[in-house]
Amino acid sequence: MTVSTTTGFRLWPGRLAPEAQAALVAEVLELSQAAPFYRPITPGGKAMSVQTTNLGPLGWFTDAAGYRYQATHPQTGEPWPAIPQVLLDLWAELADRRTPPDACLVNLYRGDARMGLHQDRDEADFSFPVLSVSLGDTAVFRLGGLKRTEPTSSTRLSSGDVCLLAGEARLFHHGVDRILAGSSRLIPGGGRINLTLRRAA
Ligand code: SIN
Ligand code: MN
Repeated sequence: MTVSTTTGFRLWPGRLAPEAQAALVAEVLELSQAAPFYRPITPGGKAMSVQTTNLGPLGWFTDAAGYRYQATHPQTGEPWPAIPQVLLDLWAELADRRTPPDACLVNLYRGDARMGLHQDRDEADFSFPVLSVSLGDTAVFRLGGLKRTEPTSSTRLSSGDVCLLAGEARLFHHGVDRILAGSSRLIPGGGRINLTLRRAA
């Protein structure tokens, strides 16, 4: 079932079957051997509570110099691993049939990791949507509007759920209040992995 609003936020609950979720987690964890998860440092100098890595030609990155996309892992200096085919197919089906994503941010939430309300605005062209895949523990996801001060609502994102920020919602504020620890047993060691596919360049 697709939950659709006029704003361009769409949610496909349980879009990935349990077997597909398990295969994707295994593939992402395998790829993270070459591109290890690390805690990014915000421009303000704080380590984020979430651990990240990236897949694809470009990866989202932050340090004291600011937010940007770069082609290599900050610690290994190596290019990010390729985006798995299953994610490219999902993007082609749900986000944009003609232009593939060139970046996939991988967020790993363990314990009390969270993500503050923000906009995704480091990409070159906001006409491309952002496609998000949730795996593992359920997230309490917060969605607001174009302005930070607009009212927000909270939605649960469970394992296998896929959502799209497109159209007006492309620049909506969003964040993760918390993770419901133990709500899934999919991720070894517990927690949640979120994959966001983007067109960065
Ligand atoms: C993000 O905004 O980068 C991640 C959102 C999520 O974890 O669901
Ligand atoms: Mn985001």
